[in-house]
Amino acid sequence: MARIIAGVASSHVPAIGAAIDNKRTEEPYWKRVFSGFEKSKEWMAKAKPDVAIVVYNDHASAFSVEMIPTFALGCAAEFPPADEGWGPRPVPVLKGHPALAAHIAQSVILDEFDLTIVNKMEVDHGLTVPMNLLFGQPKDAWPCPVIPLAVNVVMYPPPTGHRCYMLGKAIRKAVESYPEDLNVVIFGTGGLSHQISGPRAGLINSKWDKSFLDNLTRDPKKLTRIPHIEYMREAGAEGIEMVMWLIMRGALDDKVDEVYRFYTVPASNTAVGHIILENRRKAAGKSRPAGRSKTTSKSKAAGKSRQAAARKATHRIASKGTR
Ligand code: DHB
Ligand code: FE
Repeated sequence: MARIIAGVASSHVPAIGAAIDNKRTEEPYWKRVFSGFEKSKEWMAKAKPDVAIVVYNDHASAFSVEMIPTFALGCAAEFPPADEGWGPRPVPVLKGHPALAAHIAQSVILDEFDLTIVNKMEVDHGLTVPMNLLFGQPKDAWPCPVIPLAVNVVMYPPPTGHRCYMLGKAIRKAVESYPEDLNVVIFGTGGLSHQISGPRAGLINSKWDKSFLDNLTRDPKKLTRIPHIEYMREAGAEGIEMVMWLIMRGALDDKVDEVYRFYTVPASNTAVGHIILENRRKAAGKSRPAGRSKTTSKSKAAGKSRQAAARKATHRIASKGTR
């Protein structure tokens, strides 16, 4: 049986990709951002997922105003990086997992979520930037196949947070009915608060962002009741990207362990948020989620203090740049 071992969420600011591509990651402005993902890369190297499902949004690269599917599942064998105006990013072509993707499409569509099936698609910064942040910058190939799930958050009306959360649950059911023994990590991407244009361009609301992160771990159902207008008002027009994090969260257990969090402001004009949530349920068979070799009470206590230390570090880093 396949299983979802953890959820990872991360902003996907395109300037982060440009900093990598132009070798500027060591500059102080960018080091502040990248240093928050060092632990995450270590976590990912230990988790070694067999497949990553990456929930992201296309920014008029694969789709355009002429055609915007609400939920589009990438079922192709590969996904090249898109040309977003200055040539495709120098990242490896992503390999897909057509068999699992087709299985998810079947299960989710028969569960009455009307996904669009995509058999050819290029992927933009919405997907490639979080891949870099969690897997680094591989020369030849990404360490695991990827199933992209593109969500419309660029043209009204996007799906509700509740619909996204329920889709996450349907994806989990689909994964768990796949017979092969696979460990799957699901990504939610985008956000946090940001507004790119108009009189409120540059809007960042750290208080709202942090409360979103708190509730993502503790009370995601509360987040499912946030209407679009609140995302727009509190987190800026592009803050609506955060509904995608609820697909990731819906695919996890009700109670999860927050193993890492990072928040910094700004990158470009955007608040950068990142969280790693592990399912508590022990993975049957194959390797367990990273960071939990045995669930003795001693190691549980150590895990708790690790989380507390990670949170403290997060706040230290965040407080430097928080508005
Ligand atoms: C920017 C674009 C994005 O898609 C995003 O999620 C954050 C920031 C930008 O253009 O700066
Ligand atoms: Fe975006």
